[in-house]
Amino acid sequence: MATPLLDKVEDESAASPYITVTLRIRRFNPEISDESRWEDFSIEIDPKERVLDALHKIKWDVDGSLTFRRSCAHGICGSDAMRINGKNRLACKTLIKDITSIDKKTGAPKPITVEAIKGLTVLKDLIVDMDPFFQAYRDVMPFLVTSGNEPTRERLQSAEDRERFDDTTKCILCAACTSSCPVFWNDGQYFGPAAIVNAHRFIFDSRDEAGEQRLEILNDKDGVWRCRTTFNCTDACPRGIEVTKAIQEVKRALITRRF
Ligand code: SF4
Ligand code: FES
Repeated sequence: MATPLLDKVEDESAASPYITVTLRIRRFNPEISDESRWEDFSIEIDPKERVLDALHKIKWDVDGSLTFRRSCAHGICGSDAMRINGKNRLACKTLIKDITSIDKKTGAPKPITVEAIKGLTVLKDLIVDMDPFFQAYRDVMPFLVTSGNEPTRERLQSAEDRERFDDTTKCILCAACTSSCPVFWNDGQYFGPAAIVNAHRFIFDSRDEAGEQRLEILNDKDGVWRCRTTFNCTDACPRGIEVTKAIQEVKRALITRRF
């Protein structure tokens, strides 16, 4: 007959939350090969943990050469956007249980695919060159422009005026939207949704005075008119920003010159 202690151990093991999942990661190391390749890693993990935790387990316990960006681990810094099961997501905001499905034949969890976001040059494994993305961001002047009449205290704004651009203030520059856009995949010259979202944030700010200038920048052949309204960007945004709506509002402002 089992002792109470053994009973407890057995109970705990029966209730173990851990499952075995396979992460199928697209690896690329230009020092080894010009070609990328898929590599499978099987790990034990609590399904309530996140894809970022799984990547850490692999990096710390299995293969230290696995390369990816992350910083805050809480959906704030925007550094760990990646393509998970074919969809752009933040690894730190994606729970294993939400993306794991069971293979009906084997009864085991299907592999979770993880690869770099598309449309930007892959430097190593899950890391892409973000320079073109941030250049487009810089090009739309993502800062408040005012002239004269320096206020002695804060620049006042009505709640109604603030509401006008509230949604686009939530951007964390993760690039999930821009790198999910087929126009951007085909032509990296397109400003892309994230730059337009950040232009929107200032164009519709009643305190700003450079709206016309930003609209002219986005009136360029690589600006807002390249958008084909596929809604990929809105679906991809981990902050729930209505990206396509913001792009439409910028288009409308360009036509009416009212903002
Ligand atoms: S709009 Fe959304 S998806 Fe695009 S960069 Fe900002 S937070 Fe990321
Ligand atoms: S690590 Fe900062 S958003 Fe995921």
